[in-house]
Amino acid sequence: MEAWTRDAALALTAVSTALALAACGQGGQSPSGGGNAPEIGLLLPDATTARWETQDRPLLEKKIRELCHECTVEHANAKGDVAVQQEQMDSLITKRVSAIVLVAVDARSLGTAVRKADNAHIPVIAYDRLAEGPISGYVSFDGQEVGRLQGTALLQAMGTRGHTPQIVMMNGDPSDPNAVAFKQGALSVLSGKVRIGESYDTLQWRAETANTNMSGAISALGVDHIDGVYAANDGLAAGSIAALKANKVHPLPPVTGQDAELAAVRRIIAGDQYMTVYKSFKPEASAGGAMAVAAARGQSLARFATGKVTPRDGRTVPAVLLTPVSVTAANVEDTLVKEGVYTTRQICTPQLGDACRKAGLT
Ligand code: BGC
Repeated sequence: MEAWTRDAALALTAVSTALALAACGQGGQSPSGGGNAPEIGLLLPDATTARWETQDRPLLEKKIRELCHECTVEHANAKGDVAVQQEQMDSLITKRVSAIVLVAVDARSLGTAVRKADNAHIPVIAYDRLAEGPISGYVSFDGQEVGRLQGTALLQAMGTRGHTPQIVMMNGDPSDPNAVAFKQGALSVLSGKVRIGESYDTLQWRAETANTNMSGAISALGVDHIDGVYAANDGLAAGSIAALKANKVHPLPPVTGQDAELAAVRRIIAGDQYMTVYKSFKPEASAGGAMAVAAARGQSLARFATGKVTPRDGRTVPAVLLTPVSVTAANVEDTLVKEGVYTTRQICTPQLGDACRKAGLT
């Protein structure tokens, strides 16, 4: 986002120092007067993207408990519904929780709820997605860099052809500021090098919508005229690939993704998806959990900052910004397996035996 000011060189040191400091933090007083056992609200946006419930939630809960034995976590998932998330925010405010970790379904619509929380002296940490309004801290990845990695990989996979390659763009939900940054980053490397045959914004990041849109794109452009697909995340990649296969597009064009979902990693090994972007879950959840505990204890979040961000209608707040990594079949082993995200056994189903050996996964 253009609002960043970042100091990349200090990023990793600052995060680990901040985490160590938070681990030594004292006291359990809630700034909102909730007593000695701080309650931290955790609001997740949807159940269609695997990462929120399978990676972020358990890692955040673990980190919070590690740093604060007496803390409890009140979790809710809005399942893509803005009104439901607004109610969940209201209910946490009424309960006077000590801090809220929020992944906003819709940044703008949640701004009023963020303001209400602020008026009730409940700090809100925007997790992964920037929320509008007076948040207290922010943890995420450089979204434009995610888009640049996707765009660069797509160009590489399409190689040089006798014609300007034609691509289809499956972008995320424009009410998510990340989706806007991913698209901007991707366009910054794709513009002038490809023809964009069709481009869609995908409300609520639904794979089914991407599936329908891809079928439409195939009808509009023709089965033999799609050289590549920019899919903003692995869910949209799954929906797009299913439509390409159903319409007998052969060979499959390279398709990008994001989130390093297990199903996507398997598609990458099988050759159905070209790449994904790995945004390491652990450091993001560690920073989010540490900020939440510190905020719940009424401590300043400034020490966590590797950068700063100014949300719309908000004040400038400390931000932790992490670096995304591009993953293709060539580096699954060196990234996801080495970091313990998945074991080779988890990735390599019996059908993937040969493909796994070829990718050096044994
Ligand atoms: C996240 C992505 C995720 C998408 C859909 C974005 O805000 O950064 O990791 O795939 O939301 O849930």
